[in-house]
Amino acid sequence: MPTPSQPPNTTAAPHQALVLGIETSCDETAAAVVARASDGSGRILANVVRAQWEEHMSYGGVVPEIAARAHVECLDQIIAEAMAEAGVAFGDLDAVAVTAGPGLIGGLLVGALTAKAIALVHGLDLIAVNHLEAHALTVGLTDGLRPPYLLLLVSGGHTQLLIVRDVGRYQRLGSTIDDALGEAFDKTAKLLGLGFPGGPAVEAAAARGRAGRFQLPRPMLGRPEAHFSFAGLKTAVRHLALSLVPLRDQDIADLCAEFEAAVADSVIDRVGRAMALTEAIEGPGRTRHLVLAGGVAANARLRTALADVARRWGYQLKVPPPQLCTDNAAMVAWAGAERLARGLTDGLDFEVRARWPLDPDAPAALGAGKHGAKA
Ligand code: KG4
Ligand code: ZN
Repeated sequence: MPTPSQPPNTTAAPHQALVLGIETSCDETAAAVVARASDGSGRILANVVRAQWEEHMSYGGVVPEIAARAHVECLDQIIAEAMAEAGVAFGDLDAVAVTAGPGLIGGLLVGALTAKAIALVHGLDLIAVNHLEAHALTVGLTDGLRPPYLLLLVSGGHTQLLIVRDVGRYQRLGSTIDDALGEAFDKTAKLLGLGFPGGPAVEAAAARGRAGRFQLPRPMLGRPEAHFSFAGLKTAVRHLALSLVPLRDQDIADLCAEFEAAVADSVIDRVGRAMALTEAIEGPGRTRHLVLAGGVAANARLRTALADVARRWGYQLKVPPPQLCTDNAAMVAWAGAERLARGLTDGLDFEVRARWPLDPDAPAALGAGKHGAKA
């Protein structure tokens, strides 16, 4: 109801598709309701996320079985909260979108079974969403940005550079040949006793430290492909830390600052390479936006470095707000809405997938495969 101070809205709202999104692929249980208008703009009506950090903290990483159980215990409640916050009933929805992969199978099954049941009971369309596509398209919801753009996806499970051409059309330019970047942050934090998740802890420690006191390698610098590698950097941190035992707070802070500097140098070199490859593939000036997605996008040092490299290449850097960079269901609902608008729906018989590359035809990066979905 309009309040007395607001004139009533007399223009007819464009037809909206209302989509419930569900995300359970890793250690966040999330549900969201998103509206997509016929002009292609999007609006978040509710976005509820429950992180499972406490359940996994004492293990220093995500334990798949514990994650799946935690999803079972709270998904219904999270969906109910999202529906109440959005003020809609199941009957008002047009579709249910759920992450069907890549991710941990137990968690994916919990989300998929729930989504199938809701779709069946309420006669809704069903969309099996690729989690990577959800990250890749988020900027359409937050900034109205349409493809083509270059995407750097950096999370605990993924490190990839992709040209996003359209919904369902991606070209992978590079990926990690070993650890994902978020994983390198998490393992560094664990090694230095900083807790889990490691990214924010390493960033906070680095803010009190000085890069340059120690020397860490800059992996893959100058290599012609746009791949990444972080396992060697992690090992170098371990050797350095062992040589300094017992570690003082200032040692940890300086180590973290040098780690962040090494990461930033390596990532901007790889992104510069991807920009050169993009120009060669697409033609100069065709792709003008660099989009950053995934949990590591929250890192301020990395964002500053990427804004610099983007400027140098004549690109504009776009980063969705932090709560939409880390895993959430609004991005899943939005990817579902984009698919629904193109008539791309799925049957009740779809299967979840631990591995599901966005660009299945891309040649494997050296060493890829060992780490499944990461590459
Ligand atoms: O996208 P996300 O929420 O979940 C995955 O799909 O993995 O990303 C989580 C990752 C974790 O590895 C976490 O340590 C990292 O993102 N991360 C950060 C920061 N905040 C979260 N890494 C570096 N700096 C941060 N401020
Ligand atoms: Zn993710």
